[in-house]
Amino acid sequence: MIINFTKAENSNVNIPVSGITNTFLTGPAGSGKTTAAINIVAELSKAKRENSGKRLRIVCMTQKSDWRTLSTLVEPERLKLLVLGDPESEPIHFNPCKIPYGILPGEWSDILADLFCRAYGLLASAKKIVVDVINELYKNAEVFEAAEKSESWKEIVPELSQKVTFSKIYKNIETRMNALADQERIQKDMFARILDRLSSFGRENSVESRIFGNAKRDQIKAMSDMPMT
Ligand SMILES: Nc1ncnc2c1ncn2[C@@H]1O[C@H](COP(=O)(O)OP(=O)(O)O)[C@@H](O)[C@H]1O
Ligand SMILES: [Mg+2]
Repeated sequence: MIINFTKAENSNVNIPVSGITNTFLTGPAGSGKTTAAINIVAELSKAKRENSGKRLRIVCMTQKSDWRTLSTLVEPERLKLLVLGDPESEPIHFNPCKIPYGILPGEWSDILADLFCRAYGLLASAKKIVVDVINELYKNAEVFEAAEKSESWKEIVPELSQKVTFSKIYKNIETRMNALADQERIQKDMFARILDRLSSFGRENSVESRIFGNAKRDQIKAMSDMPMT
């Protein structure tokens, strides 16, 4: 189902619940996407499941605090609002260094370093350093050994790898940089550029360290623990 709006239109639209399993709202900034989406979710929260007659519970994961309005429209016991990067609300905690189920450590370190370097405009030579550092930390955490030797590596690898964090990556790069001789200026510059991008992870209590630097709080578990009403 595709509904096409323009800003000037002021029309009521009725959307069947079954029609909004996957919904893509697009439009220029300020055109009312967030407002429309919040209203759709608020309406959905009143709908009942066909088979059980229970009302839906809402899990909202967002990076923007403007979704907070939703908490005035849906009862708190049926709403889990997780705002990425906002320590004032309940932020989504996750550790990108924790290897997802079924992925090999060598694959994950490459993906992680690649994403990091692309996001921060770092070159291939920086990526090599970042991969080396992540692999060393995985090795120290015995992640590679588990991946090679253990039958239940798919469960063990995520468990062991969560000890690795961006804060540890920061410290490892810092140590490597300090070990370089003064003459190795080009290398030192490269390390400094990577550290610059990771600087918030060099501070233990920064928002980034707290939210992405530990995997002790498992958000997925927090969500499934929410009671059904
Ligand atoms: N249907 C509407 N009628 C009048 N104003 C609206 C409507 N939808 C949104 N707005 C207002 O327009 C502004 C931008 O809306 P918003 O939903 O944040 O847009 P977007 O998410 O597309 O950037 C907000 O101030 C909002 O209150
Ligand atoms: Mg918006």
